[in-house]
Amino acid sequence: MRRYFDLVDMDPLSVDGALKALPDGDSRIPIPKSVQDGISLTNVSFTYPINSEPVLKNLTLKIPAGKKVAIVGVNGAGKTTLIKLLARFYDPTEGRIALDGVPLPDYDLQQLRKSVSIVFQDYARYDLTVQENIGIGRIEDIENRALVENSAQAAGADSFISRLKKGYDTVLGKTFDEGIDLSGGEWQQMAIARAFMSEAPILILDEPTAALDALKEHDLYEEIARHAADKTVIFISHRFSTVRMADYIAVVDDGQMVEQGTHDELLALGGTYAKMFNVQASRYV
Ligand SMILES: Nc1ncnc2c1ncn2[C@@H]1O[C@H](COP(=O)(O)OP(=O)(O)OP(=O)(O)O)[C@@H](O)[C@H]1O
Ligand SMILES: [Mg+2]
Repeated sequence: MRRYFDLVDMDPLSVDGALKALPDGDSRIPIPKSVQDGISLTNVSFTYPINSEPVLKNLTLKIPAGKKVAIVGVNGAGKTTLIKLLARFYDPTEGRIALDGVPLPDYDLQQLRKSVSIVFQDYARYDLTVQENIGIGRIEDIENRALVENSAQAAGADSFISRLKKGYDTVLGKTFDEGIDLSGGEWQQMAIARAFMSEAPILILDEPTAALDALKEHDLYEEIARHAADKTVIFISHRFSTVRMADYIAVVDDGQMVEQGTHDELLALGGTYAKMFNVQASRYV
């Protein structure tokens, strides 16, 4: 409980680099319901408040509306950092990020956050029921069983949920005596189901398939293509079997955008992407 009270007492602005949410009724530009043009990053550089070295360096990237874009790069390249900037957990130190041509700070912060649904690499595992774990993705509909089941199905989580004795009413995690733990992959599918609850036009998945087996990985990608057909989807993956399904691929290396294009274009280019892809592919031959 002490941790809980510490959190409640915390002043959001005491966190280094935290952004101020503007008061309600602030006359900012309303966020578009659907993305028309896309997201553009122009010469974006970023240094974490506690660091002196920039993590992102002069990065330029266009994410067209409705496309499925993959971001690849080695550990520590800056991929997750890039995503944090898209949801305005931080603002770039230099350069700008715009949604449909409007710089992100011109939108209402709460609205912007609502229009971006993210599954983080270290996604949350709530010691609550299955229903609540998924429903929390759209808090006003947390009781809506049909919607929750729909999202679970899309994330491929419905089959293991139906095998649980209490189904959607099963308590998860080890905090409570009756709690049941899930496998890593099952927890990941719960997190994806939660993201599918959201009506946000932008869906971001940081390593969505890291804990999934090869068959589930493939099914998931097909579901994303179906469930999020109209959405702009950005995903990060180290698995090239997933990456190659993207419409467009951006390669980040040491905070810089080094290559962009389709899978075929990047293979033909014979650069960083081709090298990484071939190293992984060669293990299967
Ligand atoms: N909150 C933070 N404060 C300071 N430095 C950070 C913070 N988060 C990440 N970094 C640093 O930023 C760099 C990029 O990290 P980031 O998490 O963006 O990499 P990544 O490309 O997502 O890597 P991975 O593939 O391992 O997930 C790393 O060197 C990391 O140490
Ligand atoms: Mg990361």
